[in-house]
Amino acid sequence: MIETLAIEGYRSLRHLVLPLGRLTVVTGANGAGKSSLYRSLRLLAECALGGAVGALAREGGLPSTLWAGPEVIGRAVRAGVHPVQGTVRSGPVALRLGFASGPDLLPDGAAPAGAPLTGAYGYAIDLGLPQDGGASFGLDPEIKTEVVWSGPVLRPATLVADRHGPSVRLRDEDGSWQVSGRRLRSFDSMLSEVVDPVGAPELLVVRERLRSWRFYDQFRTDALAPARGAHVGTRTPVLAHDGADLAAALETIRELGLADELDAAVEDAFPGSTVRVRVTDDGRFSLELRQHGLLRPLGSAELSDGTLRYLLWVAALLTPRPPELLVLNEPETSLHPELLPALGSLIAGAAQRTQVVVVTHSGALVRAMEEAADGSRARTPSPRSDGSAERTGRSGPRGLPAAHGVPGLHGLPGLAHVELVKELGETTVAGREGPLDEPLWHWPKR
Ligand SMILES: Nc1ncnc2c1ncn2[C@@H]1O[C@H](COP(=O)(O)OP(=O)(O)OP(=O)(O)O)[C@@H](O)[C@H]1O
Ligand SMILES: [Mg+2]
Repeated sequence: MIETLAIEGYRSLRHLVLPLGRLTVVTGANGAGKSSLYRSLRLLAECALGGAVGALAREGGLPSTLWAGPEVIGRAVRAGVHPVQGTVRSGPVALRLGFASGPDLLPDGAAPAGAPLTGAYGYAIDLGLPQDGGASFGLDPEIKTEVVWSGPVLRPATLVADRHGPSVRLRDEDGSWQVSGRRLRSFDSMLSEVVDPVGAPELLVVRERLRSWRFYDQFRTDALAPARGAHVGTRTPVLAHDGADLAAALETIRELGLADELDAAVEDAFPGSTVRVRVTDDGRFSLELRQHGLLRPLGSAELSDGTLRYLLWVAALLTPRPPELLVLNEPETSLHPELLPALGSLIAGAAQRTQVVVVTHSGALVRAMEEAADGSRARTPSPRSDGSAERTGRSGPRGLPAAHGVPGLHGLPGLAHVELVKELGETTVAGREGPLDEPLWHWPKR
């Protein structure tokens, strides 16, 4: 499980070190830096796919993503005695991203059965501007340093692999350093390029974990949205980012043993309704929602935006193949407040199976997740005389593990709530008094 996340020099995140829980909820006012945090996590995951430099270029290049404020903000400036002024740079221009993880244990403290990837590793990358990039690619960012270490904090003794410029060193079993023969190009990550299961298994572990990170952001639900069409279905344990394979994903959830959770999540949001997947002779899958009071089921083209979006979240959150980290950006968008308790339960339930980070604007969703996470949301909906369940706002889906709460691990909170605030243009965490309030973190030297 990822215990610490660190970002430096990315947009308004001049220096941010965050502790993560099993379920981390990130809130903050407009412009506080929530989307920047979401995007920096995506950028970190792109490193494992070798695409960080390209992703930065799509964001307008390193110069526009770098922190636009002064290198240091003095105490007098913070106190308002002196105005914010540019200072003479003492360090190099740098965008740095990293995470550290702890041992992978299930919420009950047991090690996951059959998990091939064990061990707690940290990773950090430092991107900067080229010394002489040539005329054409002069503004392309360059990977300056990358490191992988074991355990919670980077120290010389815990380093297992490092990269400075083009050269890579790996620590062998005796603890001595071996310089790899490979010379890396400035835009290739050590994670995507060094594939050596014998000499550097740790790099593979970190790479596979980062590659499994999954991001969901703003599903489309307009009339032409991919999720509204029928599609040729194959087993789909992971919902596509655009939701195009929604029907196949829901059917896979049903087939792989989570049918009760699926039905409960639908019942929780739309009492008396059930979702079925219809498969035509030519193998095309489409959704049907049976509702109380209607003579025929509704197809996905007929569902309201909110209904379709909720079903997309059901498919994303009940995934039969949970990733290492699931990151959700504003899942409440276009959902009626009445659906938020059900969504909160689903998210807290997902946090039983995987680590989840949720960036949200919605106080109601935060409350719903908190209630579901500590188990205070009741488990069984109370039956109504007509056989359907009553919406009480506190009724929870049957069978969803959320009702057990999200227990903490290693003294970390099961549910961590991070409120971002902006101070002199810089994103910080609300309630922090000073550097001692943040988790221990060391960046690698260039
Ligand atoms: N290079 C930069 N340096 C410093 N600040 C920047 C830079 N680029 C963008 N910003 C600022 O960072 C802030 C954070 O933006 P972000 O989009 O992350 O906010 P948000 O919390 O998602 O807000 P919203 O709730 O409105 O979506 C914005 O105020 C933006 O002006
Ligand atoms: Mg935003």
